[in-house]
Amino acid sequence: MRMPARFTRAIQDMAVDNAAGGRLFRAPARINIIGEHTDYNDGLVLPTATALFTWLHIFERSDRRVQVTSLNLDQVAHFSLDGIEPSAETSWIDYVRGVAAGLEGAGVRLRGANILIDSDIPLGSGLSSSAALELVSAQALLGLAGRSLPAERLAELCQSAEHRYAKVQCGIMDQYTIACARKGHALLLDCRSLQAMQVPIPGDLGFLVVDSGVRHCLPDGNYNSRADECAEALKLLAAEQPQIKSLRDLDRATLERCEPALGDVLYRRCRHLVSENERVRKAVTALQNHDARALGSLLSDCHASLRDDYEISCPEVDTLVATANSVDGVLGSRMVGGGFGGCVLVVTAADDIAGAAEQIRERYAANVGSEPWMHIVNAAGPAQEISES
Ligand code: GLA
Repeated sequence: MRMPARFTRAIQDMAVDNAAGGRLFRAPARINIIGEHTDYNDGLVLPTATALFTWLHIFERSDRRVQVTSLNLDQVAHFSLDGIEPSAETSWIDYVRGVAAGLEGAGVRLRGANILIDSDIPLGSGLSSSAALELVSAQALLGLAGRSLPAERLAELCQSAEHRYAKVQCGIMDQYTIACARKGHALLLDCRSLQAMQVPIPGDLGFLVVDSGVRHCLPDGNYNSRADECAEALKLLAAEQPQIKSLRDLDRATLERCEPALGDVLYRRCRHLVSENERVRKAVTALQNHDARALGSLLSDCHASLRDDYEISCPEVDTLVATANSVDGVLGSRMVGGGFGGCVLVVTAADDIAGAAEQIRERYAANVGSEPWMHIVNAAGPAQEISES
């Protein structure tokens, strides 16, 4: 258990002012292997959790106030547990407020708390730092109240907190992964039925994440705009084909028939979704067959689809993908997460990962003039309370 040193020091400082000893929780980052933007269209995803954590230490208070100190943001925020409502302007504390409101709404009487947070997960990088904050807060607040809820229920509660309080119309992938991950496994999730299958990640495969350093590169680029386009496409398709209840129901033949009704942009958004659901199934087979080469080319096809059809990549991320693909041992790579910047996921054989990482670091530094943030994926378990000893 490697907590950031400043976090350990801050817990000790805070313990001086808090009579009762606190409790420690952590939630992992989510790395999506494949299945991007399919979750809010009822489709398939294949994420994993990795050993990068958002850490949370909680001390009980005697009143109904919550004070949250974020070390990585260097900010302190407060709220009362009574009468929590969404606010017009959103900020990081809304992830915690939203979760607290959701838990109270589910009948859990929460207790006031002093909370300290730190995170190894680069913020806004496509590794789901926000869902990690939601899940770790939910578990800590529940734990302090002496209650627990099933992991799947907690994932749904955190997703609706994100909708209502952070005003992002996200799917369920991030919250579900962080709540239900299993060490050494990827999670095949059907986002319509919420049926999940744990898929072992073979030890002979390596995944590396490299941060492009770019955040929200398109001025009009935002996650909700893609969700709105999907809703619009669904309306047009359902008018012609009532059996289509979500874009998950679309097949290639129907998509081609409906191209005139959709128009170019919506047609390409839908083409990404149809091809991406197919790629998820193939990626599961590739993992089961230890076929790193097949997985690599699925990742590269996914990137092309996100860049050309879904249009959520950007030049810096495309350059990083090209750099990674030019390195010995790299079998494929792609942007991960919501898009418009963030991280790239690279697949290699396990034996090649350290060498590939070194070459990517050198080439990135030569192109960009600074060292990239990198992480070798180490598939972790779910958000949980941990003992400090
Ligand atoms: C964000 C959202 C997820 C998912 C991904 C894209 O991480 O929170 O629900 O839609 O983007 O696949």
